[in-house]
Amino acid sequence: MELVILVLCSFFLLALIKFLYDYLWIPLRIQHILNSQGIKGPPYRFIHGNNKEVDKMRKEALTKTLGLTDEIFPKVQPHIYTWINRYGRNYLCWNGPRAELVISEPELVKETLKNTEAFSKGKISVYFDKLLGNGLVTIEGEKWVKHRKLANFVFHGESLKNMTPAVIAGVETMLEKWKGQEGKEIEVFGEFRLLTSEVISRTAFGSNYLEGEKIFAMLNRLSIIAGQNIHKTGIPFINKFWKTADLIESEQLGKGIQECVMNIIKKREDKVVNGEADNFGIDFLGLLVSAYHDSEEKNRLSLEDLVGECKTFYFAGQETVNSLLAWIVFLLAVHGDWQEKARREVLQIFGNQNPDPDGIIKLKTISMIINETLRLYGPTNGLPREIRREVQLGKLVLPANINLHVQNIALHHDPHLWGDDAHLFKPERFAEGIAKATNHNAAAFFPFGLGPRSCVGMTFATTETKIVLSMILQRYTFTLSPAYVHSPTPIIALRPQSGIQIILESLHNDA
Ligand code: HEM
Repeated sequence: MELVILVLCSFFLLALIKFLYDYLWIPLRIQHILNSQGIKGPPYRFIHGNNKEVDKMRKEALTKTLGLTDEIFPKVQPHIYTWINRYGRNYLCWNGPRAELVISEPELVKETLKNTEAFSKGKISVYFDKLLGNGLVTIEGEKWVKHRKLANFVFHGESLKNMTPAVIAGVETMLEKWKGQEGKEIEVFGEFRLLTSEVISRTAFGSNYLEGEKIFAMLNRLSIIAGQNIHKTGIPFINKFWKTADLIESEQLGKGIQECVMNIIKKREDKVVNGEADNFGIDFLGLLVSAYHDSEEKNRLSLEDLVGECKTFYFAGQETVNSLLAWIVFLLAVHGDWQEKARREVLQIFGNQNPDPDGIIKLKTISMIINETLRLYGPTNGLPREIRREVQLGKLVLPANINLHVQNIALHHDPHLWGDDAHLFKPERFAEGIAKATNHNAAAFFPFGLGPRSCVGMTFATTETKIVLSMILQRYTFTLSPAYVHSPTPIIALRPQSGIQIILESLHNDA
């Protein structure tokens, strides 16, 4: 009996020592190392780090609406805004016991994003794993090289040109629904949700929105849960035995998505098995399924990877462009002069014909508007990285096992980089290209990331956006509805909290 008590006591003592080591000793040590190099930040608080402060600031920001200003940084990332102003452009904060170095100095950002070996993608939370796990956004090493090759092939060059008719067909379906809505209110974030879902379904998966409908609904719910849990502290040992409602729901959603994706894959396989097709197809799904069946092991994709890539592209291909389109329409509804300039350009290049690849590359004003929208209302809320071993970044020597957080909105709204009018919508700053738009050339503007891990869907996203805008501008003028409330909110991408309501007027009396 005494022996049992002794063993139990020793076990609890060891567990306590390990707990104090992880939750007290390591954080205080890292804090000391970085403080001594001039990096300051909100002090580490036992177990929770700064999560409670972040949660409080974010909840307060959610209840506030803005006037029609584009100075959205304090509302969208209130903690980062506050701490950059208090502690400087690079500061240390705490996600639970995990150190997070937030960097918003262009030279350091460039160095971080270009060096994928020292600054890797890092571990993702269980929620993000359900959303993007085993897909291109999160994988690394040789597996990443293999997957990136496949995606590069599909989302660039000729393959991309061949997608134009599918995008146009999707926009036509949306515009057909808009007929008869002139003078009435339309909520465009929801409209673009359907449209971007339809477009990625048609172009990457050779199916229509209805087939992916359930997947999109589940991914959407999962993204809301994942967003809510970014700053929640989990204690691994306790979480094994006690699951939160969010964790249970996300596990169910993860299973549901997996089943639906498997059905879509199976349908594609059945076509070949039944002799309806002699190959799996040349769209993204076709290439993935072919790689899954590849006879050479080194080229083969596992089932997990196949499912991971499908959900990654369903999600990344839809959510981001949905956000971008909605904010462009918002800005053009407010800035009628730029809406008019854009329309003039579209009518000059395409007349009333549908957009074509040769004309799309000539859309200069629209490109300026897209860049300025990405600067002010970029869809992504930070680029996470991880340091696994001690590494030098600029003059800093960073210890192992800390996270890095590259905050694009901090740079995109920084008056030192963009001038005193940084918070104003001025597409003309991009008139001579991205390099000349800012007084700093290192990494002031990177809405699609930088270096090897930059966005594989960039050209696809901008082409889709240009087609959609051109086709709307050819038919309608639009203004903001008086019902609109300005409240940009970061979920995973930046969303309008209650949608974007506009009023359409037809350019043609017969519409
Ligand atoms: C306006 C639209 C978009 C924006 C602003 C955007 C932004 C980004 C950014 C910032 C990254 C880099 C993340 C990092 O370094 O951690 C990224 C990566 C990625 N994006 Fe996009 N994206 C957009 C559209 C798309 C689309 C349409 C697709 C798919 C068709 C896509 C698929 C991906 C993938 C798979 C990666 C990971 C690439 C890799 O690590 O090799 N994105 N995106």
